Amino acid sequence: MSNVFYVPGEQRAAKVNDLFANIARRYDLINDLQSFGLHRRWKRRVVELAKIQPGHRALDLCCGTGDISFALAQRGVETTGLDFSEKMLEVAETRKKNRGPKSRTPNPTFIPGDAQAIPFPENSFDAVTVGYGLRNLTSWEHGLAEMRRVAKPGGRIIVLDFGKPANALWRAVYFAHLKMSVPLIGLLFCGNASAYAYILESLKHYPAQLAVAEKMRELKLANVRVINLLGGAMAINYGEKPV
Ligand SMILES: C[S@@+](CC[C@H](N)C(=O)[O-])C[C@H]1O[C@@H](n2cnc3c(N)ncnc32)[C@H](O)[C@@H]1O
Repeated sequence: MSNVFYVPGEQRAAKVNDLFANIARRYDLINDLQSFGLHRRWKRRVVELAKIQPGHRALDLCCGTGDISFALAQRGVETTGLDFSEKMLEVAETRKKNRGPKSRTPNPTFIPGDAQAIPFPENSFDAVTVGYGLRNLTSWEHGLAEMRRVAKPGGRIIVLDFGKPANALWRAVYFAHLKMSVPLIGLLFCGNASAYAYILESLKHYPAQLAVAEKMRELKLANVRVINLLGGAMAINYGEKPV
């Protein structure tokens, strides 16, 4: 089944940008509904794995409305959230404003940019994260190589995304959820079923956790591991740039 927002090749980025422009205002609500709130727990895990300390610098790619960026910044880390969607960044900036000037913990800086051409020199960040972003890139392999480039030696590279469960029965149940319930939630709460049917379509074209780990090894990252969540329905890929 094809999807209006999934077009391979050169037009991919423009379609993905359209998609997020369409759903930006409802993105956070629907995330909570479709994951039963669990995405918050998985994002906390990403932040723990980043092993950041005050004084460190972190980059959160495809930051969207900023969940991971805010969580990193709240740990006293100089954090940059980067995304190419103006609308998603507008929501992130509104969240920042709503925290108020007296907020005790620092805020991230949000910048527009392409995760496949990161506007920072090599060896810049102690941690580079991407949540539900790698799958959306025209070339996820290139995105991963860019993450490696801008990480400092010893820097952590962490990818959170939808996964492909190894167990065939669980995979069928989970894909049925992505095929039916998730677009229905998108239709009811955002008036857009296609934008949410896109998740399954993009996942079919994304080789997920095992291939990402393989690519991390090819890129000569150290301590590469896969952390499967919910039986592999979600996954975190972790690696470190060698010192
Ligand atoms: C599913 S959202 C994830 C948002 C956030 N990281 C989260 O976990 O809630 C994916 C984000 O990736 C962004 N994105 C997709 N391709 C991009 C690219 N090439 N460069 C920068 N951002 C991109 C989209 O604009 C969107 O905000």
